[in-house]
Amino acid sequence: MKTVLVVYGTTEGQTRKVAEFIANALQERGAKVELLDSASASAAQVQPFFAAAVVCGSLHRHRYQASLLRFVKDNAAWLAGIPSAFIAVSLTAVLADDESREELREAADAFFRKTGWTPAITRHVAGALRYTQYDYFKRLLMKLIARQRGGATDTTQDREYTDWDDLAHFVDEFLAAAPLQERGH
Ligand SMILES: Cc1cc2nc3c(=O)[nH]c(=O)nc-3n(C[C@H](O)[C@H](O)[C@H](O)COP(=O)(O)O)c2cc1C
Repeated sequence: MKTVLVVYGTTEGQTRKVAEFIANALQERGAKVELLDSASASAAQVQPFFAAAVVCGSLHRHRYQASLLRFVKDNAAWLAGIPSAFIAVSLTAVLADDESREELREAADAFFRKTGWTPAITRHVAGALRYTQYDYFKRLLMKLIARQRGGATDTTQDREYTDWDDLAHFVDEFLAAAPLQERGH
């Protein structure tokens, strides 16, 4: 069995947690996994020998991590040749209205346009408010946004919105669509 690449960009750590969850779930289902931080030195030296790839990133000011964008752009040619999925973490994903869906679609489309990569599956996943990790201004900004959008405004506590059961379902769907057994010649 060849290896599945799970590559992630993270700013406050939630997408790392999401990527680790996906990597563990894949392993529990018998897959071999390489987990890679797009901002790490090893991301620049990755070899294109994967059976499938799950790319995870989170939105900050309507953009995904620059290191993830660079990684996907640099590796778009071989990523296009294997089953792949984009796990797009954000707080907008908590909201179910049409405008929020459109906002997320536009952000993901911009990422695909800039990288030249279009995954077979895109999942928008709710992230977290990490108030206790933010600096003063970030905390203030996020509290304001949370208040406007009906999120948690108690800045003494972090709030996780990620639906882990739904992510486990994603892993099942992904494996069903991307059988990993190597075919004999
Ligand atoms: C400074 C800042 C800007 C953010 N901008 C957006 C945004 O434009 N759209 C959105 O839906 N979520 C936004 N978020 C929410 C993050 O996507 C969410 O907190 C996510 O869990 C962060 O993932 P990470 O911990 O992997 O960086 C922002 C968060 C912060 C702290």
